[in-house]
Amino acid sequence: MERQPNTVYRARREALAAKTKDAVILFAPTESEGPNAIYGFRQEDDFYYLTGLTEPGAGLLISAAGGKHGYVEVLFLPGRNVSQEKWTGPKLTSDSADAKERTGFDAVMPLDAMRNELARVLPTPRAVVYTDTDEKSASAGPVEWLRRANAFPNYVGFPDVKQLIHQQRAFKDKGEIELVRKATDASVAGHLAVMRAMKPGLSEQEISALFQYEFLRRGCERPAYAPIVGSGFNGTVLHYSQNSGKIQDGDLVVMDVAGEYSMYASDITRTLPANGKFTARQREIYEIVLGAQQAAIDAFKSGVSNLRRGIANSLHEIAANYINSHGKDLHGQSLGQYFIHGLSHHVGLSVHDPAGGADDVLRPGMIFTIEPGIYLPEEKLGVRIEDVFLVGEDGSLINLSGALPRTVADVEKAMAEGRK
Ligand code: GLY
Ligand code: MN
Ligand code: MN
Repeated sequence: MERQPNTVYRARREALAAKTKDAVILFAPTESEGPNAIYGFRQEDDFYYLTGLTEPGAGLLISAAGGKHGYVEVLFLPGRNVSQEKWTGPKLTSDSADAKERTGFDAVMPLDAMRNELARVLPTPRAVVYTDTDEKSASAGPVEWLRRANAFPNYVGFPDVKQLIHQQRAFKDKGEIELVRKATDASVAGHLAVMRAMKPGLSEQEISALFQYEFLRRGCERPAYAPIVGSGFNGTVLHYSQNSGKIQDGDLVVMDVAGEYSMYASDITRTLPANGKFTARQREIYEIVLGAQQAAIDAFKSGVSNLRRGIANSLHEIAANYINSHGKDLHGQSLGQYFIHGLSHHVGLSVHDPAGGADDVLRPGMIFTIEPGIYLPEEKLGVRIEDVFLVGEDGSLINLSGALPRTVADVEKAMAEGRK
């Protein structure tokens, strides 16, 4: 996996500390999964954002510059466990001589030191401890210990630090954009391979396997979410991921599949005619979905457009209005009722990345999807088109998955190339 320079993670920790003034930020040790989890342990997003570390079982303490010790940061790692290493391989531990150098932390200590270190840096008399778990669900060691021991009667509380981190995460830096680009490029390659290979008689699972082969061989470590390959009626089921059907001649196939590259997601959907040619009705619905996506793209204004529903400058409303004013169902009704999900979400460490801001307005550095869809179970016909976009520094909208055919003509052409 690729990792950004230590200085990038350090700058994020300092920026976070600056927002919390006279406080301590505490991350309880991250959970670890057993060796049999299919893709193995995956680091929690916020912890990864602040550290770039994939080790399980690590904790974190940051004390803002306003505290009595000035800026303090400590990474807590499990100690070396020789017998465990036989099962899961060598790990970075608090005993590793180069732990500070490798992680870029001022101090690396064993997990056992967490309580003492917290007690040492806790500013008095008004201690605010920001934690990674909200107060209600905080059964995690240090928070529970603090509360039970009543060791610090003057503490003000344990606010959740996630909201502050999510404000930072909403704006991607250059290194993050590069990783989302790589996730996207590998996923686009998967979609192109599938466009060439698609034909009636294949199983949805074979298509899912081909996607994964293509993006894993390009350096992705796992799919960014459960791959969705739904043919015919299955294409109208939003979170269909059984992928157990056989693709029939005449089906449309909705494929919402993308990989994760060095922890960063992509999110792309294409809808293909199984036999390489859209029927007139499939084409009609497809072009309405495409038109809705294009209407949202054309309306986009950095600093103005937002991801909310039902308010001014909402991209969702633009796409929904387009769908509702084009085409009809079999009963002569408008199609708006068949667009049943949100138009967009942020993408980053998570495929559904936190929006971070109070206003949901899209600004330079943000990465998000535009993904209208129409689902007509009665006609066994579903269409979704999803691309992932970056708001450039100059406020322009950049389609990161723009290399992938999107129009009827381009999709049919790409599919025909596989049939030569
Ligand atoms: N693949 C999940 C989504 O499109 O939101
Ligand atoms: Mn999406
Ligand atoms: Mn998707």
